[in-house]
Amino acid sequence: MIMTGRSLVTIDDLSTGEMEALFSLADEMSGTMEKQFGLCQGKIMASLFFEPSTRTRLSFETAMHRLGGGVITAADVGATSLAKGESIADMARVVGSYVDIIVIRHPWEGAARVVADYSGVPVINAGDGGHQHPTQTLCDLYTIKKEKKTIRGLKIGLWGDLKYGRTIHSLIFALAKFGANIFFYPTPGLEVPEHVLEKLTTEYGGELESHSSLEAKTGERVLPLDAIYLTPDSPHQLAMMPDVNFQVELKRGVDALYVTRPQKERFSRTEKGHDWRKDYPVVDKKLLSGREFRQTLVMHPLPRVDELARDLDADPRSMYFKQAARGVPVRMALISLLLGIKEVAVPAVDTHPPVQYPLYRGEVAPRCPNPRCVSVQDTETRYLQPEFKIVNREPLTLRCVYCEHGFEPAYIASAEWHEGRTATKKYHSARSHWVHKISPENLIVFSSAHEAETHGFKPSHYVKTKRRKEKHDGSSKRGEGIKE
Ligand code: CP
Repeated sequence: MIMTGRSLVTIDDLSTGEMEALFSLADEMSGTMEKQFGLCQGKIMASLFFEPSTRTRLSFETAMHRLGGGVITAADVGATSLAKGESIADMARVVGSYVDIIVIRHPWEGAARVVADYSGVPVINAGDGGHQHPTQTLCDLYTIKKEKKTIRGLKIGLWGDLKYGRTIHSLIFALAKFGANIFFYPTPGLEVPEHVLEKLTTEYGGELESHSSLEAKTGERVLPLDAIYLTPDSPHQLAMMPDVNFQVELKRGVDALYVTRPQKERFSRTEKGHDWRKDYPVVDKKLLSGREFRQTLVMHPLPRVDELARDLDADPRSMYFKQAARGVPVRMALISLLLGIKEVAVPAVDTHPPVQYPLYRGEVAPRCPNPRCVSVQDTETRYLQPEFKIVNREPLTLRCVYCEHGFEPAYIASAEWHEGRTATKKYHSARSHWVHKISPENLIVFSSAHEAETHGFKPSHYVKTKRRKEKHDGSSKRGEGIKE
């Protein structure tokens, strides 16, 4: 398979076969580093880092230098014309006309998607807000594969800030693609976001068992386990899920524990004011002294703060500096594949191809509810048309194509039935049976009754009745129980 000209925005952009091929190329390149010089001669990479970075930026730049290519870099948004109000799309068009490949880190979720849409050259997402960090995931998977020889069927624990950790979100989907089981150990209050879990279970199959049932089943818990994801792919007995097997497996321990720091830069005001120290137990030698951790790889994307003790640094189980070092050959392999300098043989069949959903690009487009989404930023709303995947009909659920946050809109209408007849220009509850009657191409979605009425729609008889009843009962449960 040829990967020339493609972008890596989310981990969904690569099949497991392509990742395996990339890892083989990284192996080959790391063993013959000096021989790679000259492969990218005449090629230029733009390294745009609008959030702090040590590993990702410097390993990408090292990778391009090792390949003999050139690098231009912008590491401060204030030193670019974005600070003057230029849009990301305009910047992408301009930079794309200078270079052959762009690597971008940006605090807005979905920013790398916009750059990929407008630059005309391959784009690599080096981290977009709390959304994804797919090349960190490649380094993580490469390390697991090198140390454990396989990823399939392994038990990988994720520890710490699972809410804002973008490396966590990419890794969850990648592990599911490779058929690994995932144990979730979040700091209370920093659990994996619902939209990530929803995508995990609907697109990768498998079972997600949540905290309360686990607590009842396991009794004593070594770590504050919140949930487990059991892969459907694994022939492992764990996938059969009898409780007793699960307890035995838990005692056998996890194959890798992936620790993350609190991502304070993305915390809400309340979260910033919270004292996390008591909820964020330090992973140290003592914690990992049980039999069940004898073979556990201790992983961390770095930087670390206080969550990972220095006493593990010399421990053979610690992998975090190896993960960082392996970033160079992994990124060399990726750059040379996307630039078409190298080609690899990949099985055409993808075990988990991305699910194709109908798109909602209606004239009336609700704002993505995620305030960090690129599509709601002032400089970007001038040209970006909000766009959503219709990922579920019951309840109607839209997923933003940029940041992948999901939400359930309140009201719907049809573009077809009202046409030319203002009397029938009615809006309905998104939970009513109308959701099945309106085809995706005719669907109009509203976030609120006010928005629907601003666009000239009137409430359906049932919406009116429901609102009257809610007013009477003092209830505000949106759309519940409506049978139109
Ligand atoms: N792991 C990682 O993304 O590190 P940096 O923020 O230093 O690039």
